[in-house]
Amino acid sequence: MTDRILIIDFGSQVTQLIARRVRESGVYSEIVPFQSAEAAFKEMNPKAVILSGGPASTTEMGSPRAPQIVFEAGIPVLGICYGQQTICAQLGGEVASSDHREFGRAFVSVEKTSPLFEGCWEQGTNHQVWMSHGDRVVSLPDGFEVIGTSEGAPFAAIADEKRHFYAVQFHPEVVHTPDGAKLIENFTHKIAGCSGDWTMAEYRQQAVDAIRKQVGDKKVICGLSGGVDSSVAAVLIHEAIGDQLTCIYVDHGLMRMGETEQVLSMFRDHYNIPLVHVDAADLFIGQLEGESDPEVKRKTIGRLFIEVFEEEAKKLGGADFLAQGTLYPDVIESVSFTGGPSVTIKSHHNVGGLPERMNMQLVEPLRELFKDEVRDLGRELGLPDSFIGRHPFPGPGLAIRCPGGITRDKLDILRQADAIYLDEIRKAGLYDAIWQAFAVLLPVQTVGVMGDGRTYEFVCALRAVTSVDGMTADFYHYDMEFLGRAATRIINEVRGINRVVYDVTSKPPGTIEWE
Ligand code: XMP
Repeated sequence: MTDRILIIDFGSQVTQLIARRVRESGVYSEIVPFQSAEAAFKEMNPKAVILSGGPASTTEMGSPRAPQIVFEAGIPVLGICYGQQTICAQLGGEVASSDHREFGRAFVSVEKTSPLFEGCWEQGTNHQVWMSHGDRVVSLPDGFEVIGTSEGAPFAAIADEKRHFYAVQFHPEVVHTPDGAKLIENFTHKIAGCSGDWTMAEYRQQAVDAIRKQVGDKKVICGLSGGVDSSVAAVLIHEAIGDQLTCIYVDHGLMRMGETEQVLSMFRDHYNIPLVHVDAADLFIGQLEGESDPEVKRKTIGRLFIEVFEEEAKKLGGADFLAQGTLYPDVIESVSFTGGPSVTIKSHHNVGGLPERMNMQLVEPLRELFKDEVRDLGRELGLPDSFIGRHPFPGPGLAIRCPGGITRDKLDILRQADAIYLDEIRKAGLYDAIWQAFAVLLPVQTVGVMGDGRTYEFVCALRAVTSVDGMTADFYHYDMEFLGRAATRIINEVRGINRVVYDVTSKPPGTIEWE
């Protein structure tokens, strides 16, 4: 039996990052919402428990708590942010709202050696961490001592070494805590004694088993977008259930230039999976024309996808399941992963369930993974590198890169600008260094002068970001020569654009897409 870690979710936006770091340390983990944690704990028999952060305050009446059994089982516990506060509140310490709130980068001074810090943080040294808290611990429960402090959190890291309880105010799971992964590995290996023998190959096997169990001998249709996610999902599901799977590629008229042809030829050349091609451009564009509200665009597209799948399923004589390549960042930004209280940022088109009338269930084998993990899984499944390296492309396509009212003309202008931009990126050898790049057509016209004449045309914004998992991102630092070259070509070659700007916003506070 594999070693297991139970992660109790209090609604943090980054709880899945904890699971991911635990996976990276070679250990299997499961996340459960705090409401069902007691039952999950009894069933799972974990080697250790991690308590996540969350938006609540332990000082409020009725705020969530960890089941007491977690502290009575004699196994290691790690509390993170809210998790630390609830440990203190439950074991006899005290938490208070603080005037000195900390958001973003902070530094922890190591006060004592601890197995949690082994091999990376020595006593007397300082280390960058990422904080995000209003409340803080002000008095410790019996048995605990301070092992690290920060300016805003005198109890930034605490430990009860005898009981193997550890708690930190900062977030070791995010990449902005550079040594965070090592601290989590220390917890899973040195403190909890896990062996670290869990791999992506095992994830593949578990996912295949889970799909077989969920689907049985029923039929599945899979929405294929041509992106990495839906393709990895399709190949994985095909491995699990073979010809019970039919893939459906819906061309919604919001694809990039040449994308549909590429997708179809790639799938027909590389795979032997049944594929239906639906040309639904008129349906989608007809309903989106003139629409400018980002959420309405997303919801309309989501609804139409479902209608098309429903129609196609009927033609195939019915299907019981709809498979999608939904990833964790899509889930967390749309709804809380575990039904907890995290906030909706955008309605990703493929999150949010199916209408009841459909009588179909979702198969989403990538729902717990991040983009780069999906790429690893794709490699594990033998997908070609050129394919795995493709930039992500969102399900709602160019609709969310055309802020303001959508028109066919604007989509055409955008497609041309985007194709030139990507062509320049490829020619400059930058495609693989950039995580995602695209053009956005702004609903603003500006005055220009071309060949002695006045122009009054649209502005095109260029976006390029670096990222690991799409959850956080930085804008790509081009040299100006490159930007000048791309801008000149776009303005010269695309009728309808007379100005190009570059987006230098990171995520957060921006998102990668403009809508
Ligand atoms: P944001 O804009 O939320 O995007 O920072 C993060 C990543 O997700 C992609 N994205 C989507 N992918 N359906 C998808 O399949 C969607 O509705 C969707 N919205 C955004 C986006 O392109 C970026 O890679």
